Amino acid sequence: MSAAEPIDLVGVVGGGQMGAGIAEVSARAGCDVVIVEVSQERADAALGRIGASLQRGVGRGKLTAEEADATLGRLRASGSMDDLADRQLVVEAVVEEKGAKLDVVGRLAEVVRDPDAILASNTSSIPIVELGAAVGTRSTNVLGLHFFNPVPVLSLVEIIPSLLTAESVTERARTFVVDRLGKDPINAPDRAGFTVNALLIPYLLSAIRMLEQGLASAKDIDDGMVKGCAHPMGPLRLSDLIGLDTVLGVAETLYDEQREQLFAPPALLQRLVSAGRLGRKTGHGLYDYA
Ligand code: 3HC
Repeated sequence: MSAAEPIDLVGVVGGGQMGAGIAEVSARAGCDVVIVEVSQERADAALGRIGASLQRGVGRGKLTAEEADATLGRLRASGSMDDLADRQLVVEAVVEEKGAKLDVVGRLAEVVRDPDAILASNTSSIPIVELGAAVGTRSTNVLGLHFFNPVPVLSLVEIIPSLLTAESVTERARTFVVDRLGKDPINAPDRAGFTVNALLIPYLLSAIRMLEQGLASAKDIDDGMVKGCAHPMGPLRLSDLIGLDTVLGVAETLYDEQREQLFAPPALLQRLVSAGRLGRKTGHGLYDYA
């Protein structure tokens, strides 16, 4: 395979809401997709969630039943990274912890055979250069492709080359994002939080702090931003949608790099995460979804 060839073979590591979303949009765009989780069981569960999402799309008239079947036919679930050996692009979307992401990127550098394959991270905040530097000569093929939740709905992808990324790799990734996925990318700097999260996370943390200090109710905070600023959802509901563990992980990375108080995670956020109340995905977070 060469760097000039269009990307057809995609791998996704991590079958959570982001990984599943990236796999879904890639398969809908006609790519052959392997989704890898820590076990076959979890990979199958991720595939099941994608199937359900496609069915919802059929129900809403976004695609036909035949298109949904064809999309599922292009998706394979696996519990082994070895099944990514032939991929041209792999996007890691595992938990927002540097150690976990370094492990995955290191393993990808070992198993993915094509020397031109792009190794991308969907990290929300971790500087890409730290992931690239960990894989020696393949650092030129490592970049950030940061999608937004829900991936099938939101058109933005942040493209984040590191100091080590080859320009040809960035351009090939951009072609894939625009021409294949039909998304609208922006170029983002390789600093903690890139562009969007560096702006979004302090806003979400301020809302959680306002709630924590008893200054306003959750409903009034969210209604204020929805009705007063035309946001599609308020900051507390959005935090629950993103996942409070992810919000906390991003805040910690931003705070470590910038040492600015506005990135410091409020105690309420830390306590909810410790309690396993991670937002919509666990049924409890800042709101109760039971
Ligand atoms: N998959 C596919 N489609 C979905 C979907 C999903 N998971 N969730 C919603 N949709 C579609 C619906 O089908 C519907 O499409 P239609 O209008 O064409 O029929 C449309 O989105 C609206 O959905 P709903 O009517 O069910 O609900 P809402 O109008 O309340 O919209 C929302 C839900 C799309 C989540 C909207 O509230 C929204 O955009 N919220 C803001 C999300 C946001 O800011 N995300 C960014 C998070 S930051 C991030 O991801 C970065 C990370 O690093 C932290």
